[in-house]
Amino acid sequence: MADLRGKRVLVTAGPTHEAIDPVRFIGNHSSGRMGICIAEEAARQGAEVTLVCGPSHLASAPGVHRIDVISAQQMYDLVLPLFADADIAILSAAVADYRPRAVSAQKIKKKDASLTIELEPTPDILASLGQIKREGQLLVGFALETENALANAQEKMVRKNCDLMVMNTLADEGAGFGHDTNRVTIIDRRGNITNFGLRPKTEVAIDILTHISQTL
Ligand code: CTP
Repeated sequence: MADLRGKRVLVTAGPTHEAIDPVRFIGNHSSGRMGICIAEEAARQGAEVTLVCGPSHLASAPGVHRIDVISAQQMYDLVLPLFADADIAILSAAVADYRPRAVSAQKIKKKDASLTIELEPTPDILASLGQIKREGQLLVGFALETENALANAQEKMVRKNCDLMVMNTLADEGAGFGHDTNRVTIIDRRGNITNFGLRPKTEVAIDILTHISQTL
């Protein structure tokens, strides 16, 4: 088992919700479970863990310092300064890539005509950390791909300047969003590719942290 005693670990988890009006939002199916399992396992291994979590119904162990957020912007605003003190950052959150350009102050009323909502990109937290990463800090990204998984994940790892990429696809029965199990492949900057089998997310968290410890 990996030993993370004395390490400061920052984890993002869950979806983000991007407000359309006071009652509606754009979101996704992430439960936050994978990131919560990673945060809890890192704490079990002795790390000082901060978890920045988007809207999730799941609780996390008391050993994890958890900060709940709603939107990508809130996650970005919190994570950037926290990264300065982190040895390892694991960004497993399924951050919304776009948000409504304008949030309506009142509930949007139904009309007969179609409705168009203009979207703008959210800040990319992983890419921003990649830009300010210092020597000795380890940055881990997640990539959920539905096609050309390996090539896309490799491109993403280089573009966002992270050290490891944890890749999963929606192709596996029982893996990913909404499931207790996951199947991941970890890739690094030297071109190593490590495949893991379909396993409970608690065990996938151990695999990921063991891989990280070996990379340190
Ligand atoms: N991520 C982030 N901030 C965002 C979007 C994504 O920190 N605004 C992080 C995720 O937490 C994950 C990684 O970036 O670790 C991959 O996210 P993904 O949305 O798949 O990457 P994109 O660059 O948006 O690529 P695409 O949507 O084209 O697959």
